[in-house]
Amino acid sequence: MKTTLKGKHLVRLQDWSNEDIDTLMEIALDLKMKKALNIPHHVLQDKTLFMLFFEESTRTRNAFESGMTQLGGHAIYLTPKATQIDHGETPKDTIKVLSRMGHGIGIRWCDLGKGNKYINEVAKWSDIPVYNMQDDYWHPTQGLADLLTVREKFGTNLRGLKFVVSWTYAPKYVRPLSMPQELVTLMPRFGMDVTLAIPPEFKMLPEVWKMAEENAKKAGSKLQIVNDMDEAFKDADIVYPKSWGPLAYTLDEKEGLALIDKYPQWVVNEKRMELTKRHSTYMHCMPADRGIEVTDGVMDGPHSVIYDQAENRLHAHKALMAATMA
Ligand code: CP
Repeated sequence: MKTTLKGKHLVRLQDWSNEDIDTLMEIALDLKMKKALNIPHHVLQDKTLFMLFFEESTRTRNAFESGMTQLGGHAIYLTPKATQIDHGETPKDTIKVLSRMGHGIGIRWCDLGKGNKYINEVAKWSDIPVYNMQDDYWHPTQGLADLLTVREKFGTNLRGLKFVVSWTYAPKYVRPLSMPQELVTLMPRFGMDVTLAIPPEFKMLPEVWKMAEENAKKAGSKLQIVNDMDEAFKDADIVYPKSWGPLAYTLDEKEGLALIDKYPQWVVNEKRMELTKRHSTYMHCMPADRGIEVTDGVMDGPHSVIYDQAENRLHAHKALMAATMA
């Protein structure tokens, strides 16, 4: 276990070693047990977390906010409009001031070409830990919760498990690439064989896919792309289907929406789940488009671990804050 994570930013998990991440997993389980047994764990008493959201959130915001309360601290919800950011205050001035007042800051901004750049700029000037609450490239706190969930369901030796990240059809909205990019880079590091199932236009950004390939090679895991959802689901241990936009293919929203509409058959239903192993798990970071990308039968069915996964946001975020702020 690492005891030297104090002050560390989490902009992307690629900058955290497997040992660092294992440490968070252990702390998360300890804090989860303490919460279940009602054992106080106010390790962040009198500390303040700033949460700056450029976009809306249910899970991320509430996991950080309630997590901070349970750790004895306080979280403040900020938006560009509620601060001087909308009037043009620079990332440097914003974070230099907040660093004098609080103990950590989380930021969500998923706009392609903007979010990751902004969070990196804040991290450069910050004297307090900076947490990426999802940007255009990464969703590291979701990645931590997902890894925690997989470890709870399958144990700590994950070598050789077939982990499927699949695109799904969900119209009307071009979602960011951050979630699939998080999964294809993170899961191979922990020994899982990752299959990315996509229509051809829904690839990851090239530099991210290269990183995923390097991670898999280093860990001795397999990584492949298939263009057929059924082929991917066959004998899978874990399936993680969700929708995202064809942002590595086109930045034109109209063209992106038209491309999504080409693939309405890319949905998850009970028949598709039958292709997976008997003990397989269905994961989704949520929010999901019920009845569109996935049936209620799968979301509420025996393979689904979606609510455990969402709950683990709380425990993973608490671990992150406790390890870096305490
Ligand atoms: N999965 C996730 O990040 O959910 P929210 O958008 O509700 O935070």
